[in-house]
Amino acid sequence: MSNRSAGWRRSVLLSICGLLSTAASAQNLTNGQINTVSARLAEAALQSWELGTRSQTILELNATAYSVFSNTFLPPPEVIPSELANDNVMAPFFSIARQIVSNRTRLNNNTVGPQPLMPDGSAADPASNGICVLIANWTGQDAGELDYEGAARDQLDYLLTRVPKTGDGAISHRESQVQLWNDFVYMVPPFLAYYGVMTRNRTLVAESYNQIKLYRNYLRDDRQGMWQHILLGSSGNDPGFWSTGNGWAAAGMLRVLATIRQSEYANTFRNEQRDLGNWVREIHSSIYRHLDETNIFTNYADQPPTASGNFYDAASTALLAATVYRAALMLDQYTYLPYAERSRSTLSNSNSTSSSNETSTFDNYEHFTSDGWLRPVVNPHSYGQEGSESAEGQAFVVQMHAAWREWVQDGSKGANTAMNLKLKKLIMGLALGAVLVLVL
Ligand SMILES: *[C@@H]1O[C@H](CO)[C@@H](O)[C@H](O)[C@H]1NC(C)=O
Ligand SMILES: *[C@@H]1O[C@H](CO)[C@@H](O)[C@H](O)[C@H]1NC(C)=O
Ligand SMILES: *[C@@H]1O[C@H](CO)[C@@H](O)[C@H](O)[C@H]1NC(C)=O
Ligand SMILES: *[C@@H]1O[C@H](CO)[C@@H](O)[C@H](O)[C@H]1NC(C)=O
Ligand SMILES: *[C@@H]1O[C@H](CO)[C@@H](O)[C@H](O)[C@H]1NC(C)=O
Ligand SMILES: *[C@@H]1O[C@H](CO)[C@@H](O)[C@H](O)[C@H]1NC(C)=O
Ligand SMILES: *[C@@H]1O[C@H](CO)[C@@H](O)[C@H](O)[C@H]1NC(C)=O
Ligand SMILES: *[C@@H]1O[C@H](CO)[C@@H](O)[C@H](O)[C@H]1NC(C)=O
Repeated sequence: MSNRSAGWRRSVLLSICGLLSTAASAQNLTNGQINTVSARLAEAALQSWELGTRSQTILELNATAYSVFSNTFLPPPEVIPSELANDNVMAPFFSIARQIVSNRTRLNNNTVGPQPLMPDGSAADPASNGICVLIANWTGQDAGELDYEGAARDQLDYLLTRVPKTGDGAISHRESQVQLWNDFVYMVPPFLAYYGVMTRNRTLVAESYNQIKLYRNYLRDDRQGMWQHILLGSSGNDPGFWSTGNGWAAAGMLRVLATIRQSEYANTFRNEQRDLGNWVREIHSSIYRHLDETNIFTNYADQPPTASGNFYDAASTALLAATVYRAALMLDQYTYLPYAERSRSTLSNSNSTSSSNETSTFDNYEHFTSDGWLRPVVNPHSYGQEGSESAEGQAFVVQMHAAWREWVQDGSKGANTAMNLKLKKLIMGLALGAVLVLVL
């Protein structure tokens, strides 16, 4: 058999396998399993951006009235609605704000005035906790003891006046040198937009968009469409198309868009809202081209898993799927739903026959350990290496689940795209099979 026909056989086999796996495994994670994933998230989230990401995740799953993705008008209720108060589901959320604000003066060596919420080599990551602190202030969690408002203002002023910038005004992701990371889009602009909405400061809302626009100008690759990970600065660049970073960028843009849309500024900033929607689509259309038959992205999406330093990464896969459900709900963008559904279903798939819809455990899951850790995952503290027990990976699974759940409640709109695609695949597969039988 020639190499060429061996290659053909393999690709036919792969597409048939792909077909069977989409057909056979329409499995969902249960609420109990999502709580197990959440428990691992709570244990693992210690770094600034991990806490910030966890705080948003708590809202998206358990306190949706305070998530920008809900239909709550912003600013949100100052009095916590009774169903949330009675169940105390926001306690872990407020605990994050309380710990950060109680510790910050000591950890920042008694700095007064502009300062990050936590010390960190990253100028941007601590700001991911800013919204949590703003909500603690707004809902009166201070008990006359903690100055949440002052802590949020110091964080804002630090970003605007102390962190170095590019000549055209992009705020650096790092403290020690001007360097732009695509992660920034999740850490800073959503805070600027939320602060602007809470304090009715239009300039800050505009600035959240402006920062995204600047970052996209630097990091987006015209040919690939995806965003590069880290540029500028004298060391530590990463020009690769890091999958998680593209997910951070898409998710951050959706949060800013949602914040504007749920606020008094919804009818202004029209062009900005349109741009943000287009820029999310741009990431989806360029990155989903690289999803192979495993339905899992590689750590650098355009590189094969065999490339040196590359491997499959379920964390970015979950985050990107979450953004596809959000884009469907918010923007009627349905093209990539079949891909997100395949990824979600692959991640949720187990080979055990007896899994009930009540279970909270993970027996025989390819993509979860028995304790509920997502796998395989990039090491979130060393982005070029495979790791284990990733806090952000746990958060992305919960975010994917929360967004999927809302998409189902909303009538699974655009699921027909998925059906059509499956059908197309089936017909293509059969036709290809028939041709091969004739040729070989
Ligand atoms: C998964 O959830 C979807 C949406 O609720 C439902 O239609 C489907 O039947 C569920 N699949 C399984 C195996 O429970
Ligand atoms: C959501 O609430 C459940 C309890 O109802 C809890 O077990 C789980 O940890 C919470 N999830 C998150 C992300 O906080
Ligand atoms: C705050 O400080 C306490 C006591 O040192 C520590 O246990 C906790 O992890 C800190 N939390 C944060 C978020 O800094
Ligand atoms: C606080 O001071 C200690 C001891 O001088 C130093 O190691 C640490 O880096 C300082 N932290 C900050 C955030 O400046
Ligand atoms: C903090 O909360 C108070 C009381 O709700 C509110 O008046 C103030 O605007 C809030 N500050 C910020 C920065 O959101
Ligand atoms: C908006 O916020 C910026 C940054 O804190 C501040 O300089 C400006 O005075 C604020 N504008 C208004 C109208 O409050
Ligand atoms: C599990 O399935 C049973 C039978 O289909 C149903 O009665 C029950 O409500 C389901 N439980 C959950 C938590 O979805
Ligand atoms: C099921 O999946 C687990 C995890 O990937 C694996 O260890 C186990 O061997 C599989 N069992 C069967 C029967 O395929």
